[in-house]
Amino acid sequence: MASLNDIRSTFLDFFEKNGHRVVDSSPLVPRNDPTLMFTNSGMVQFKNLFTGTEHRDYKRATTAQKCVRAGGKHNDLDNVGYTARHHTFFEMLGNFSFGDYFKDQAIPFAWELLTQGFGLDPKRLLVTVYHTDDEAATLWKKVAGLPEERIIRIATDDNFWRMGPTGPCGPCTEIFYDHGPSVWGGPPGSADEDGDRFIEIWNNVFMQNEQLADGSLRKLDMQSIDTGMGLERIGALLQGKHDNYDTDLMRSLIEASANVTSSDPDGPGKVHHRVIADHLRSTSFLIADGVMPSNEGRGYVLRRILRRAARHAHMLGAKDPVMHRLVPALVRQMGAAYPELTRAQSLIEETLKLEETKFGQTLDRGLRLLDDELAKIPEGADLPGEAAFKLYDTYGFPLDLTQDALREMGRAVDVVGFDAAMTEQKAKARASWSGTGEAKDAKIWFELAEKDGATEFLGYETETAEGVVQALIRDGAEIGSAQTGEAVQIVVNQTPFYAESGGQVGDTGWIRTDTGLVEVTDTKKAAGVFIHIGTVCEGAVAKGQPAKLEVSHSRRGAIRANHSATHLLHEALRGALGTHVAQKGSLNAADRLRFDFSHNAALSAVELAKVEAEVNDYIRQNTPVETRIMTPDDARGLGAQALFGEKYGEEVRVVSMGRQDGSGKGADGKTYSLELCGGTHVTRTGDIGAFVLLGDSASSAGVRRIEALTGEAALAHLRAQEARLAEIAAVLKASPAEVVERVKALFDERRSLQNEVASLRREVAMGGGGAGPEAREINGVKLIAQVLKGVSGKDLPALIDEMKGRIGSGAVLLIADTGAKPAVAAGVTADLTGRLSAVALVKAAAEAMGGKGGGGRPDMAQAGGADIAGAEAAIKAAEAVIGG
Ligand code: ALA
Repeated sequence: MASLNDIRSTFLDFFEKNGHRVVDSSPLVPRNDPTLMFTNSGMVQFKNLFTGTEHRDYKRATTAQKCVRAGGKHNDLDNVGYTARHHTFFEMLGNFSFGDYFKDQAIPFAWELLTQGFGLDPKRLLVTVYHTDDEAATLWKKVAGLPEERIIRIATDDNFWRMGPTGPCGPCTEIFYDHGPSVWGGPPGSADEDGDRFIEIWNNVFMQNEQLADGSLRKLDMQSIDTGMGLERIGALLQGKHDNYDTDLMRSLIEASANVTSSDPDGPGKVHHRVIADHLRSTSFLIADGVMPSNEGRGYVLRRILRRAARHAHMLGAKDPVMHRLVPALVRQMGAAYPELTRAQSLIEETLKLEETKFGQTLDRGLRLLDDELAKIPEGADLPGEAAFKLYDTYGFPLDLTQDALREMGRAVDVVGFDAAMTEQKAKARASWSGTGEAKDAKIWFELAEKDGATEFLGYETETAEGVVQALIRDGAEIGSAQTGEAVQIVVNQTPFYAESGGQVGDTGWIRTDTGLVEVTDTKKAAGVFIHIGTVCEGAVAKGQPAKLEVSHSRRGAIRANHSATHLLHEALRGALGTHVAQKGSLNAADRLRFDFSHNAALSAVELAKVEAEVNDYIRQNTPVETRIMTPDDARGLGAQALFGEKYGEEVRVVSMGRQDGSGKGADGKTYSLELCGGTHVTRTGDIGAFVLLGDSASSAGVRRIEALTGEAALAHLRAQEARLAEIAAVLKASPAEVVERVKALFDERRSLQNEVASLRREVAMGGGGAGPEAREINGVKLIAQVLKGVSGKDLPALIDEMKGRIGSGAVLLIADTGAKPAVAAGVTADLTGRLSAVALVKAAAEAMGGKGGGGRPDMAQAGGADIAGAEAAIKAAEAVIGG
């Protein structure tokens, strides 16, 4: 028996042999569609190839595409478990031609693979075609020899396939398998078509039109092929089963479920096992593609599916979480075809366990409340909306979970009442909301959040995405459109732009619609609404338009490197300085990072060097950066660093990086850095590139600040340093290696030159080495009195001493003509200080030059004058003092 894995390979191999490129499944979260919640068919990733707005280096492709149909328009959730062919997750096999082959080759391919590749009995196959498509009908006759009665013409949209309200579309031909008269049901288009006798196995769409938003159909320039065959369906058929859940792959998951719940896979709990098997696939694949449980958007769909599974596990008597214990079985089955599943295994297990544990705490109480409420109402009556709302609001029961629980009793929920209760709660929230008072227009964000929900952030996984413009705002009020040159704030349903928070700056980039381009210069958020702040730079943009959003990649890359480096820096500081180091603030911008932390002293050069080296060690370790979701308590239990003063919700993101044992593998408790963080990070630490500390400074009392660079900025900084060094070396006419020695030598030389200059000056002042100034004698005291040019006041004492030495006994008066205010000094040899004071001499001289004061000792005193013109008078005044 061919396994589902074999069938998948047979399909892909067949088309590869026929010139098709085997392309990987795209992620479940579509990046190229503004409104699609999940990828729900194989063509989603090729949408723009059909319309001709994108080109790749192949014209034929084949894929096995992961699909989820839950939430949004295609929602199969309600039926899963109860029917043979509903799934929230399934695989779609497809072959695609982009303007290459058309019907005349697609039909033969399909026929050959089904009848020869898969060996289906040609007599059991029949097809439908769009009622006007004679060409397809003729081809079926010619290629497959099908008689007229097995080519059914369908006039409805069943045979005109559209991906959604807009996008590529076209007539299609569907291939059916007839299980024979022993099974009830009629052929397609008949009254009994819903029976199980005729099963659709493959849809071939002849892409030739584009559905436009105004309702009209445009003819595409090229004709293309898009096909889709559910692997589970063809698998059931080839394995001789009527039920997709009886195929080998699904069966192994059902048996795993039976195993962990110690129950019979085919007993009374059969439905529960089917629900669990299906939901295990959708939840695991969604988590592997970056969706995390939340109360909004995609995250809420994931949560709903998981809670529904948890209730069914509970029905099987499970007391503890079971879903995470089934992940290994799923990875065994599907990990080879979808390696992302294997890579994310531990993240999937942890996330499922956390969610199921949390919900388990209220599930019992909620179910008891449900029983109590049912006891109050008449047999068969709908559950009042109020009660369903209380289950939702207090016990975390999504509406569909309550409906699912009631379905088993043949009862329903009063959905109108539920909606009314929800509306009333929102009105109360609105009435009590007073805003933060920070921004005058803050109220508008709250109103937008209430109307359209919070913005879904896609930026952990992607930097480009499509969204729909939900609102344009200027000066706190909504506007319908904005023109070239106008500033505008844009709200979109989903965005890859990171909004400023947690120290990380908001993203910049571009938002493009069919009619205009906006340059986004910053992104902020309020009330869960992301605000893209920018200016229209081409054309005009309008509310309601689909838009392509593109984050400035290089800038975001630099921000990510800085943010991840900040985490490593934090840990390195704790290692070097002690665990008192706590984050007090941070900035993760594109050009640099800044980190403020509690510490009392400046960091020594040795400490700085140690920290810088350690961060670079972990960069070179190049281990993956991992993100998990957990409760704040669990995160702290693991030792995660939390941000000061931050309020954390029910769940937090925990970012870990680096392995202390250097192994780079596994969550072994030796994680280097573990922090609560909502920011965006590099994939592996090596992506940071390099880390350079610029230095440390005081930020405020007890808080130090470090600034640093990473990646290209770090290299640019080092290159600039190097260029400066080269410049210095060139000036010094030395090699960079000799620069330090050369500068030291220059300093030594300078010092000795300075000394030489000083002594030469003194010599010059004293007469250039000749006899020097003449001494005169007054009152029996030898006096040398002289005005000196080219010396400063501070040179005078040494000169006085020198002259005192020369005369042996006497007095000296020197006036320095500095060009500005003159300085004066006087000296008296020790033998005369009993009768003559240098202080008296200097005071008298200074006064004569308009100065005041003067001081010193009897043998040496100094003062300043105001005007050198009084120099002669100053000498006279000193002579007068000696003369008595
Ligand atoms: N896109 C087509 C479908 O989903 C093949 O049925």
